[in-house]
Parts: sequence; C-alpha cells; structure tokens
Amino acid sequence: MKRILSGITPSSPKGLHLGNYLGMVKPAVAMQDKGQCYYFVANLHALNTVYSPDDVMKNTSTIFTEYIAFGIDPNKITFYVESDIPEIPYLQTIINNAVTVAELKRMHAYKDKLQEDVSPDSIGFGLFSYPVLMAADILAFDTDIVPVGEDQAQHVEIARDIARSFNNRYGDILTIPELSVQKNVARVPGIYGQKKMSKSLGNDIPIFGTEEEIKKQIMSIKTDPARIHPSDPGDPRKNITFTYLDLLEYDLNNKDDSLPKLSQMKECYKKGTIGDVAIKKIFYSFFLNYFQDYRTKKQACVKDIDAIIEIRKQGAEKARKTATKVLDRVKKAVGV
Ligand code: TRP
Repeated sequence: MKRILSGITPSSPKGLHLGNYLGMVKPAVAMQDKGQCYYFVANLHALNTVYSPDDVMKNTSTIFTEYIAFGIDPNKITFYVESDIPEIPYLQTIINNAVTVAELKRMHAYKDKLQEDVSPDSIGFGLFSYPVLMAADILAFDTDIVPVGEDQAQHVEIARDIARSFNNRYGDILTIPELSVQKNVARVPGIYGQKKMSKSLGNDIPIFGTEEEIKKQIMSIKTDPARIHPSDPGDPRKNITFTYLDLLEYDLNNKDDSLPKLSQMKECYKKGTIGDVAIKKIFYSFFLNYFQDYRTKKQACVKDIDAIIEIRKQGAEKARKTATKVLDRVKKAVGV
C-alpha cells in the first residue's frame, strides 16, 4: 500500500472554510481507505507568519479538532502535529546540506515576497528555508505520494530534488516522493469572485463560524453585476453562489424538499424570476444543513478536549515510530 502524506498550515484562528473543505479535507477523508495516510497540522510552518504564541496554539488545536470532526479517523491513519515530531526539524538540519541557495531563490513563496517590494536581505530565513522544512516533513516518513494543489507543486519538486542529491552523495537512503497534483479537486473561488478562497483575504465562508458569520459572508457573495433588479435576466455563471451549489452537488445532497432543484433555479435566474437574495437564502439554508453534523461533532470534541489531547499524543507516538527509523538511517549515512 502506497504511503500518502499531506499537511495543512494552521495560519488562521478562524478555522476551516469551504475552500479548505472541498480542496483538502474532503479528498483527504476519501483517501483514508485507499492508502496508508499520514496527515498532519504543520504548526512549525505557521511560525513564519503567526507570532502570537496563543494564536499558534489555538490555531493548531482548532484545525486538529476540525479534521477529527470531519471524519479523519486516527485509527485508520496517522494523524499528528508537526512540532510533536522532533525528528522532522532534525532531518531538516541534515538535508540543508543537499540544497543550494540558488535553488531556494527560485521558490514561489520567496519570489512572491520579493514582489511585495521588500529587500531580499529583510526576508525572514524561516520563509526562505520553508521548502526545506516541507521536504523534511515529507522525507521523514518514506512518503510515496504527496497530493497537493498546484500552488504547492514546486515545493514537492524541490523535496524530490533534495532526496535525489542526498542519495547521490550517500546511497539509496531517502524515498523519492511522487508528486500528485490534484487536478480534479475544486479550485474554490472566494465570495468576491476572481481570487481563490482564503482566510487571509477575508473572502471565505467559515464552516464552523457562528450562523451570523456564515450568513454575513453568504449575503456578500458577488452576483451578476449587470443585474440591477431581481426581474432582470441574469447569468448564473456570474453569481458565485451557483458555483458553490455546483461544487457541493446541491441536487444530490439537498434533503429539504421545499427547496427547488438547481436547474430550476438557474432557469429562473436567466429569466429574471428569482432574485439574488432568494438564491443566497436557499444556499445559506442548504449550507447549514450540509455541514450540520460536522458542526455538532466539533462542539462535542471541544467539550471533550481531553480525548482530543489523547488522540494527538497517540498520533505523535505512531508517527515518531516511522520518523525515528528514517532519521536513524539518515544519521548513520552521514556519520552522526
Ligand atoms: N505548505 C503547505 C501549505 O501551505 C502545507 C504543508 C507543510 C505540506 N508541509 C507539507 C503539504 C508537506 C504537503 C506535504 O499548504
């Protein structure tokens, strides 16, 4: 069975949103039975943007708990927090010697930062070396496959390069991971269209937010700007609400018979017989229904935080068993 590894950076206190769910969590849950999965919360990665210790801790436990609420099953997979595995930064120190400054300068995260008009000398080394930490995340577990979105593909490529140069020097020590770019996984637009949904842009719909927070975001979704009155004909492709309804497979998942079918809504929208607000209200009601069980489960998890702490502890033990074996092999190879 192939070993699949994936991480998520806990950079926001707001928790997971619709884009995270469709792009990461849903495929991750589906994969649990298909491979030997290692999933983790990459809290060391968050340190290059989150400087408040309280926030780091809160963000980490929020994401960890929400994954459990979504059905990540710690009995089926290895589920852990990055900083609980000291073998990862240890490996990072060693593999620092298998990558050049020039290679790291080609990384998007670094280049994007330069675009912001900061001088290269003021860029934090944590951001610069982020791809090496990510390579350590991957290589510490003899990972076969890393499924990521397009934006992370380059980081997996450099992990492969690092493993190859390490092996060239020391022999067949590290497993070369395979990159798997998730093409059929949804790229979820934010509520204002154009840009990808992201917490930092404030264009997200938080799944575990309060009903008011969810409603506020849904009511702000961008609609067809050519449509001034609800009776004007509209283009469903220009109201992002329809994109979300499509992505969540509304017709298949809607359990409320009083709500219309999606094709019906689109027809009415084209003819100008249904307003934008009405569409959003339908979506809001469907959204709450769709995520109701997960929201309830999260509340239960938060009440029983001891159980979550125990899951985290056991996850770390399980993960360290693998990482220790790999690190021992690496240490022996390099002579420390
Ligand atoms: N950098 C990834 C992101 O921002 C998260 C991540 C950290 C990761 N380590 C990883 C993903 C290892 C895959 C494998 O999304």
